Parts: sequence; C-alpha cells; structure tokens
Amino acid sequence: MALNYTFSIIKPDAFNSGKAGKIVAHLEAQGFVLKAARVMQLSKKQAEEFYAVHRGRPFYGELVEFMSSAPCMPFIVQKDNAVHALRDAIGATDPAEAAAGTVRKLYAESKGRNAIHASDSDENAVREGRFFFAEADSL
Ligand code: CMP
Repeated sequence: MALNYTFSIIKPDAFNSGKAGKIVAHLEAQGFVLKAARVMQLSKKQAEEFYAVHRGRPFYGELVEFMSSAPCMPFIVQKDNAVHALRDAIGATDPAEAAAGTVRKLYAESKGRNAIHASDSDENAVREGRFFFAEADSL
C-alpha cells in the first residue's frame, strides 16, 4: 500500500517572498494535513548531500547554490497516496508547463526557482523525511 505521508520543501524563492503560508493553506484545502515543519537555511554541504542524485547534471551547482542561499521550510504532510497526490498538486518542474491551479503554476518563478520540492517516490519520501526530521517529529 502506498505511503500515507510525504516530504516536501518550500524553497528559498517562495519562503523569502512570503508565500509559505499561502502554499500550506493551498495544500490543506486539498486535504493534506501538516505533520511536521521547520524553518532552516541549508548549508552548502547539506544541499549537496540532499540533491546528490543530481550530481553531475548541468544544473547541480546552481541548484545547490540556490537551495543553500536563504532559509527554506522542509515539511511533512499526510494524505492517502501522499507522494502521488502531492506531485499532482505541485505541478511540473517548469512552471511554464505546470497545470493551472498547481503550486508551481501559482507561485514558482522558473524551472530552477520553482517554489517547492516534493519526494518522487515512497522510498525517497522516507529517505528525505529522515534527512530533516527525527522519527518522533513526523507520524
Ligand atoms: P526538485 O523537485 O527540487 O528536484 C531537482 C531540482 O532541480 C528541480 O526541482 C529544479 O528546481 C532543479 N532544476 C534546475 N534546473 C533544472 C533543469 N534544467 N531540469 C530539471 N531540474 C532542474
């Protein structure tokens, strides 16, 4: 059975332009329940490790710089089939291609500064959730 929670980050572009509350409210209106959240600025090393799967890709350096440039908001939400539901709710990586009503269509600036990250599989939701939260913080 699919996991009933997933991991997400409100990225520095959205957090620092005051969109965190609007994004959380948008997700809550769709039935996501906030289970854990924190505000922090990633070190360069933490950003490199979190995005290690993208190491070697042309955008990796820019991604690490951006994600460690200012505070962000890692969080965990609960919903049935959570990973799939949240990926649907946030929309395509590039806001120009994101469907109407998705978080990225509403709040993202560009493919790099795209407002929100969401885990792309149950396995990554567990791994990424553990990267930022103690077990006791989440479910
Ligand atoms: P995210 O879901 O956080 O996972 C990897 C991130 O790399 C992605 O969102 C984008 O913000 C970022 N990125 C920057 N440039 C690109 C690109 N050209 N293709 C894909 N992802 C990119």
